[in-house]
Parts: sequence; C-alpha cells; structure tokens
Amino acid sequence: MVNIVAQVKTFECTYGVSLRRVLLKNHIDLYNSGLKVINRGIGTCGNCAVEVEGDSEATWRDKTHSFHSPTRNWRSSCQTQVLGSVWITEFDGF
Ligand code: FES
Repeated sequence: MVNIVAQVKTFECTYGVSLRRVLLKNHIDLYNSGLKVINRGIGTCGNCAVEVEGDSEATWRDKTHSFHSPTRNWRSSCQTQVLGSVWITEFDGF
C-alpha cells in the first residue's frame, strides 16, 4: 500500500493504480463545474491536471499537453499511475 496526500486528506491505495480513480474515489474534486460531465479520463482534455510530488511518471500522452514541462511535476491524473507515496496539489483545470 502507498499513501496519497491531497487537500489535507491522507488515504492509501495499491501500487500502480490510476491516480484519477483514487482521487475521485476519495472525493477529491478534480473538475470544474461543466467539465464534470464531459471529461472521459482518456488524457485528452487536461482538466484533471494536478501537481504531483513523489513517485509517478509522466506518460507519453501527458508529455504532449501544453502544461507539461520537465521542470514542473504537473500530470493528468487520468494518465498517472501511483508508483509510491505522493503529495497532490489540485488545480482549477484548463
Ligand atoms: S480527464 Fe481529461 S485529461 Fe484526464
């Protein structure tokens, strides 16, 4: 089990699980109002962007987003596997 810290909550998940799935399951609100309806969790909209500190890797799809930078740890949570304990900062989305 690994720990995730987001919005002053701490919860556990299993290694390799989708970060988006864990955050939504633990009631972390990832999406702006209307985007709750149109997001599909397939890495195309950029609305599930979070800053991740800890063990995670940016996927090739994540690296194509305009918000990606080698100097920032911003990820699409739907494209992120949890590979160890992580600390999450959630954004308003794009
Ligand atoms: S839900 Fe759209 S990029 Fe993750």
